[in-house]
Amino acid sequence: MDSGAALTVDRDALLAAARNAAAQAYAPYSGFHVGAALAFADGAIVTGANVENASYGLTLCAETVAVGKAMADGRRGALLAVAVIGGKAGAVGRGDPVTPCGRCRQVLTELAQLGGTDPTVWYFSESTVLELRLSELLPHAFGPANLG
Ligand code: THU
Repeated sequence: MDSGAALTVDRDALLAAARNAAAQAYAPYSGFHVGAALAFADGAIVTGANVENASYGLTLCAETVAVGKAMADGRRGALLAVAVIGGKAGAVGRGDPVTPCGRCRQVLTELAQLGGTDPTVWYFSESTVLELRLSELLPHAFGPANLG
C-alpha cells in the first residue's frame, strides 16, 4: 500500500501546522506540549494539540484530538501523512522526536484503514526527522476491515 505522501504532501508545511498546533496545547500537568497535523488527499490539513485533565488518565494526545476533529468533520480515510512535534513548554521540538502512544497508533489506524492508506508519519525535533509508516508503528493492526 502506498500513501503517495512523499510526492504530494509538503512536509515543511505539515511541520509548521503541527508546530502551530502545539502552541494551543492544554498541558498544565505535564508541561509537555504536543502538536499533530494530518494531511489529506484533498490538500486539507487538520491539526490537534494535547488536552490534559485534572484526572490525569483522561488526557487526550494531540494525534487523537486531530483524528477526532477530522472525523467529526466527516472525514473517513484519504489520510496521507501525519506530522508530530512536542517538547516542554518553550522548548517544543528540542530533545528527541516524540513518537505516539499505543492508543494514538490505534486511533490513527482506524482513520487510515477506512480509506485504505498507510500514511507516512513524521516525528520532528530540531535535529532529527523520524519517518515511519503507520503500519510500522502498529504492525498487524486490528481495524475496521476485521469487522467487515
Ligand atoms: N502526548 C501527546 O499528545 N502525543 C504523543 O505522541 C505523546 C504524548 C502528550 C500526552 C500528555 O499530555 C503529554 O504529552 C505528556 O505525556
